[in-house]
Amino acid sequence: MDKFSQLNLIGSSPSFLQVLKQIQKIATVDVSAYVVGETGTGKELAVRAIHYLGARRDKPFVPVNCGALPETLIESELFGHERGAFTDAKNASRGLIAEADGGTLFLDEVDSLGLKAQAALLRFLQDRTYRRVGGSTQRQADVRIIAASNVQLEKLAESRLFRRDLLYRLNILTLRVPPLRERGEDAQELAHVFLDRLRHQYRMPDKHLHPDALAYIARHDWPGNVRELENMIHREFLMSDDQFVRLGQGEHHPVAAIEACSSESGTGSGNVEYKIAKAQAIAHFEQHYVRELLVRTNGNLSRAAQLAGQDRSAFGKLVRKHGLSYDNSN
Ligand SMILES: Nc1ncnc2c1ncn2[C@@H]1O[C@H](COP(=O)(O)OP(=O)(O)OP(=O)(O)O)[C@@H](O)[C@H]1O
Ligand SMILES: [Mg+2]
Repeated sequence: MDKFSQLNLIGSSPSFLQVLKQIQKIATVDVSAYVVGETGTGKELAVRAIHYLGARRDKPFVPVNCGALPETLIESELFGHERGAFTDAKNASRGLIAEADGGTLFLDEVDSLGLKAQAALLRFLQDRTYRRVGGSTQRQADVRIIAASNVQLEKLAESRLFRRDLLYRLNILTLRVPPLRERGEDAQELAHVFLDRLRHQYRMPDKHLHPDALAYIARHDWPGNVRELENMIHREFLMSDDQFVRLGQGEHHPVAAIEACSSESGTGSGNVEYKIAKAQAIAHFEQHYVRELLVRTNGNLSRAAQLAGQDRSAFGKLVRKHGLSYDNSN
């Protein structure tokens, strides 16, 4: 399937071929879609493929990582704001929905949207109209929404952290990207492709996978999926002293998997100011921590506060800060 390798989607296991078939189908129908899969499985690549194989391919593809934006900013990022809408709003901004007009807006980590932003998004999905923050003019945009997350939205909906009506709007079509360990020999195939790319990139044609590396690839569980494999090969390629790339011997990076899993968390990337990166990292941590506890306790605020070792009202504040909801009866 040549067009898929042009889109960088490598793999030929039966479960991956099924994914490619679904991508092809989803690309031909112009409705909202939802992509779910573990971290590093290739969700973003899949969403890009859906856009570039579809009728909107010549219009913008606008990705936004909902998890990297503080709750207070996400609405104005998506829908724009009028001048003076809040303290820092010195100029009006049109927002990403307007930027994506005619094309696709990719909402990555959609599970991190707070309830207020969820309500605004639902309104947009219902009639394609929206208002800028602080504005009263109704605006329209023709945007296809594709969302992705690595947690099951269904589970969040059960705990009332994700609106069910929004879930039903988003998941008209659902694509599940399988973890690498369920993809047969794809890992070996990917390893060869990544190594080829590195040989070209660094002009070191005589580096090859050590025979033991192939056995390691087959044996390893790949919790960080394709990203973990790609990062590991990259690192060992650069670090090896002879013509062989060895894997799984741990001498270059014992925490490889952890690093690979966290390398694209959207924070600490070094190209934003320290203060902003730190605020983002804290917001990201708080939101995930609080949500995780609410899911575990089925939305029971008292129980969640107890597990966090905080008093109920302080924890409640944190929950509201991130626009999450909880069961008011306890
Ligand atoms: N089938 C594939 N063929 C080639 N490269 C792939 C494939 N799947 C994923 N990759 C590569 O693996 C890395 C991770 O992919 P991607 O960012 O799409 O994953 P993700 O599911 O969005 O991860 P996360 O949930 O952590 O955001 C990228 O560098 C991507 O190019
Ligand atoms: Mg991603």
